[in-house]
Amino acid sequence: MGEPANNDDMISVQGLKKSFSGFPVLKGIDLHMARGTTTVVLGGSGSGKTVLMKHIIGLLKPDEGQVIIDGQNVSTMGRAELNVFRERMGMVFQGAALFDSMTVGDNVAFPLREHTKMSESEIMERVKEKLAVVDLHDVEQKFPAELSGGMRKRVGLARAIIREPKIVLYDEPTTGLDPLTTESVDQMILMAREKLGVTSVVISHDIGSAFHIADRIAVINEGVIVEEGPPAEVRKTQEPFTRQFLATWFGRA
Ligand SMILES: Nc1ncnc2c1ncn2[C@@H]1O[C@H](COP(=O)(O)OP(=O)(O)O)[C@@H](O)[C@H]1O
Ligand SMILES: [Mg+2]
Repeated sequence: MGEPANNDDMISVQGLKKSFSGFPVLKGIDLHMARGTTTVVLGGSGSGKTVLMKHIIGLLKPDEGQVIIDGQNVSTMGRAELNVFRERMGMVFQGAALFDSMTVGDNVAFPLREHTKMSESEIMERVKEKLAVVDLHDVEQKFPAELSGGMRKRVGLARAIIREPKIVLYDEPTTGLDPLTTESVDQMILMAREKLGVTSVVISHDIGSAFHIADRIAVINEGVIVEEGPPAEVRKTQEPFTRQFLATWFGRA
């Protein structure tokens, strides 16, 4: 079992273990994320980041341990309960595909039309408000293809926050993006925290981006968290894997 949960934690991952066909992927993860903070889970590909993320949203069940979100055990929830619970979570996945045949406004409004009985005028107002959070204005009538890559990412976030979640999860938000678009996505993540006060979890192997946006960085290697702390401390760590991993970006000290 992991450490006991703290009431200030929005997300508490406790003693999480998961194997696939006898191959251990998560080997006992303990991770606590305070309300309103941004935590970047940093690690190489195949280190178990997405598997961890899927446990946080309840898509995978642990072999051992649990995930507690806002005081509730996500790991023991059934399907119906999870569906209701996921209202509190906004997800921005790598592909974060928008519907190309729909306008930006309809894309962002989609979760409201699917899950709520809000009136059309309430929906339009909410769409405008969330697009403004990500610094997009008067784009409702445009189609995704008319926007830049960074703007499309922002539309994806506007859609993820349209139901006003307390938590936003991002899986590899900057992977494969050029430096300018990466910068724009980093700004978007910072804005979401500042304007919405959400708790954010960013899964990433982008070291530069992690040090830009994180309140705390957790480094994962082969299913174990080897380092966790504020960026300035992680930067100075003596932990061998983290030092080696960071050297690929910062160079050797
Ligand atoms: N559903 C699954 N079944 C079997 N193996 C899986 C499954 N999901 C992930 N894995 C394995 O777990 C390891 C970690 O994967 P993943 O969490 O996706 O890595 P990443 O850190 O790149 O996101 C990989 O070896 C992957 O092949
Ligand atoms: Mg992944």
